[in-house]
Amino acid sequence: MKKELIELKVNGRRHELAIEPNALLLDVLRRDLGLTGSKRGCDESSCGACTVLVNGVAMLSCALLAASCEGQEITTIEGVSEHGSLAAIQKAYGDWGGAQCGYCTPGFIMTVKSLLAENPDPSEEDVRNALSSNLCRCTGYNQMYEAIRGAIAAEQKGAPTAVGQ
Ligand code: FES
Ligand code: FES
Repeated sequence: MKKELIELKVNGRRHELAIEPNALLLDVLRRDLGLTGSKRGCDESSCGACTVLVNGVAMLSCALLAASCEGQEITTIEGVSEHGSLAAIQKAYGDWGGAQCGYCTPGFIMTVKSLLAENPDPSEEDVRNALSSNLCRCTGYNQMYEAIRGAIAAEQKGAPTAVGQ
């Protein structure tokens, strides 16, 4: 298939890429840009492991054509930390043992970031609803929810954080 030239803005950097028109954003991120933090868990739009932010909104990169993302602000897990420091949600995951094998973790973190950008003080129900499309095969959901509650509390205390930016 003939390739076309597109420009993608990912984690604040512009990239000019020659890709096939039907290339999925997940493949372009992982294969062409070497950003392997976004994972392929199912390829059926049902696990959330490939979640990235497009203009701040959580989207499944396995279900998006890369070409359709031209001109959008794409953020991956690699773009979550600030100036080399972990974002509050990343730190909280470490503190609470939220990651087990870690395969689903980037997707969860991107979904939480999208939620907190829209609603800085989500209820437990809001958090559970937002995360209902992310699956963890290791099933350690309680630690994850503790980590998310910890990150929200840190944000509300005004701790330096990149959550919800
Ligand atoms: S790989 Fe995209 S939802 Fe599972
Ligand atoms: S931590 Fe292993 S799949 Fe979620």
